[in-house]
Amino acid sequence: SMGNDEIIRQDLDRLHDIPLYKTFVKGWPQVNAFQARHDDLVIATYPKSGTTWLSEILDAIYHDGNLEKCRRDAIYNRVPFLEMNIPGVPSGVEQLEKTPSPRLVKTHLPIHLLPASFREKDCKVIYMARNAKDVVVSYYFFYQMAKIHPDPGTMSEFLQAFMDGKVAYGSWYEHVKGWWEKRHEKWLLYLFYEDMKKNPQREVQKILKFLGKEVSEETVARILHHTSFQEMKKNPSANYETMSAVLMDHNLSPFMRKGISGDWVNHFTVAQNERFDQHYQQQMAGSDLCFQM
Ligand code: A3P
Repeated sequence: SMGNDEIIRQDLDRLHDIPLYKTFVKGWPQVNAFQARHDDLVIATYPKSGTTWLSEILDAIYHDGNLEKCRRDAIYNRVPFLEMNIPGVPSGVEQLEKTPSPRLVKTHLPIHLLPASFREKDCKVIYMARNAKDVVVSYYFFYQMAKIHPDPGTMSEFLQAFMDGKVAYGSWYEHVKGWWEKRHEKWLLYLFYEDMKKNPQREVQKILKFLGKEVSEETVARILHHTSFQEMKKNPSANYETMSAVLMDHNLSPFMRKGISGDWVNHFTVAQNERFDQHYQQQMAGSDLCFQM
């Protein structure tokens, strides 16, 4: 009924230099022509880097910590996904056109593919990066449960595909480095998942300062509690359990899987780790972008 055979376990298509879901590529002209508003805030990430976490934090900040308002709808409706295009449901662009200002906009696009209108309107962007090893493990489980992806194969095969940039949204290395190059721009705040795990209070203060917002300490504490992994895991408006089971099978792996740093040690063999490190050094050579793994 939703044109399932168009989306379930399909090979990826290509959008410029990145592999991407076929239906997203079909919808690209509308995304590229997107009309931003000056008060849009973009949440940009490589997949599995804490997008949902950051989205929940920002929606809570936008509603001054009113948790009832944060439960008004599922996170994928409160923060529409710009380039999302799946037959039978409103596209990200259609959702955003109906969203009152100020809008939060989720995207996984690399910086060079961000629609021009966001820069023309001088929109702010918050980018969140997560270390490559935890991203690839999280992505492997996500490929299994989110059936818009092709079958990931074995961990070993998926690791190779990730290193080769042959996964949805392409090279993690190019993505994090591309956004990092602009980190000094006034309109961009570059955050790390690992920092948010270690000291969420400090990171939320960075966000508030970036937004020019003042919020009471009590409200910050409420927001931090509401956006902890344990709270989000049991919150149906944050944990993706309301999404069609055709698209996401939480029995294969829950969307809110572990929510920790360093889980990669449980999934990489020693040999895989050595290969990965060697390739990592080549990819990141000459960059001062450093991750805590
Ligand atoms: P794991 O698979 O490692 O558990 P995204 O939202 O970009 O798809 O990222 C999903 C990853 O963020 C998953 O990682 C998920 O568990 C984790 N995550 C979601 N909410 C979180 C939270 N409140 N705190 C920590 N991690 C969270």
